[in-house]
Amino acid sequence: MKIVVVKGSPHRKGSSNLLAEQFIKGAREAGHSIVELDAAHMDIHPCLGCEHCGMNGPCAQRDDVPQIRDALLGADMAVFVTPVYYFGMSAQLKMVIDRFYSYTMKLSAKHLKTALIAAAWDSNEDVMPYLVQHYQKLCRYMNFTDCGMILGTGCGSPSMTKNSRHMEEAYRLGKSL
Ligand SMILES: Cc1cc2nc3c(=O)[nH]c(=O)nc-3n(C[C@H](O)[C@H](O)[C@H](O)COP(=O)(O)O)c2cc1C
Repeated sequence: MKIVVVKGSPHRKGSSNLLAEQFIKGAREAGHSIVELDAAHMDIHPCLGCEHCGMNGPCAQRDDVPQIRDALLGADMAVFVTPVYYFGMSAQLKMVIDRFYSYTMKLSAKHLKTALIAAAWDSNEDVMPYLVQHYQKLCRYMNFTDCGMILGTGCGSPSMTKNSRHMEEAYRLGKSL
């Protein structure tokens, strides 16, 4: 499979990207090809809601979104990687998703496989459900098939993350594909 990993953390070497690295290691070992897109360090603007695209046409904005769009439209699987910010995904990743607007129909017609990788400081059970619900609804709306979620609770810093069981979980998810 061609797998596109969309990273949404401002920390290049942060916790969510550490988990993504493990996922990628496993997926490469399983023979898949990986494209990594560090959306948090690309030039991506928020959707203006201007309706120029009519949900299925050219976007009025000029930035790096076409690179993400073309990668996703050529992929078999997308992996969304994010720190947990106030119980949801980062704004950096949300901008990528809001900008699906101009190619929602094309993207949902692809029936992509997807996965979610998230890192949060807290380790209690009330951290992830809100992000998970959003992701699951997005999957239903976009015809994505979820292949797994790495919900990195207690992953508040790279050292916490390296010592967590989620590293192995992420590796195993990649390897299992
Ligand atoms: C703006 C902001 C909001 C955050 N909100 C939460 C939160 O709601 N719950 C939580 O457990 N951690 C929260 N955190 C902590 C981060 O999720 C945590 O440090 C994570 O490891 C960062 O991942 P990264 O290194 O991949 O960026 C927040 C951090 C920031 C900067």
